[in-house]
Amino acid sequence: MGSRTLVFLLFALAVSTAECNSEGDALNAWKIKLVDPNNVLQSWDPTLVNPCTWFHVTCNGDNSVTRVDLGNAGLSGPLVPQLGMLANLQYLEVFSNNISGSIPTQIGNLTALISLDLYQNRLSGPIPSSLANLKHLMFMRLNSNKLSGAIPAPVIQLVQWGNLRIMNVSDNQLAGSAHHTNRTGFAVTTIIQDAKARK
Ligand SMILES: *[C@@H]1O[C@H](CO)[C@@H](O)[C@H](O)[C@H]1NC(C)=O
Ligand SMILES: *[C@@H]1O[C@H](CO)[C@@H](O)[C@H](O)[C@H]1NC(C)=O
Ligand SMILES: *[C@@H]1O[C@H](CO)[C@@H](O)[C@H](O)[C@H]1NC(C)=O
Ligand SMILES: *[C@@H]1O[C@H](CO)[C@@H](O)[C@H](O)[C@H]1NC(C)=O
Repeated sequence: MGSRTLVFLLFALAVSTAECNSEGDALNAWKIKLVDPNNVLQSWDPTLVNPCTWFHVTCNGDNSVTRVDLGNAGLSGPLVPQLGMLANLQYLEVFSNNISGSIPTQIGNLTALISLDLYQNRLSGPIPSSLANLKHLMFMRLNSNKLSGAIPAPVIQLVQWGNLRIMNVSDNQLAGSAHHTNRTGFAVTTIIQDAKARK
């Protein structure tokens, strides 16, 4: 085999490996922004072929990430736009940490998402209107953060046209008038917001 061919093969291998692990790269891009005093992300090794053996990560049969379970993990730092690349993610469980910064608009790319649990953190800024793309979402718990602004109307419409069952945005700094709504239709849906919303 000529050295030129070998170089090409090695290059092709490197490219295909990189492609295979794009979800690992996305999660690693998040890991390097986080402060992890309890070392819960110690097993997150980006040199592995995929993230499916990492603790707190679950994959489907195609080695694509379906769950990230990092509730109560003692993590500080932001969410990152790269999380939007986890195309098959169904459960993003990051509640009860010390996550700060805003909710990336790219979270709206996670169209397979069933549960978005970001409650009890220090998230600030608006609820992105891109979350209205999450038509499979059943649970959106953003309560007990520092989110501000109005809940975008298309996001509230998920209650009517999407699958949303529980949307808890209580204990934030949100403006608006969608206080404590309990709508019944095809399913019981509850929007929980503080009765005394701020301007
Ligand atoms: C929470 O994060 C802030 C920085 O955003 C940091 O100063 C603080 O020490 C963290 N608190 C805990 C309990 O980790
Ligand atoms: C991800 O979301 C961003 C912002 O909402 C959007 O501009 C972009 O086109 C999306 N990317 C994909 C691959 O869907
Ligand atoms: C909604 O959020 C508030 C504030 O975090 C919490 O006290 C309440 O138990 C939550 N309700 C439900 C039904 O999740
Ligand atoms: C919402 O309404 C349904 C049906 O009337 C009821 O069973 C449920 O307890 C209500 N939930 C809340 C949080 O009020």
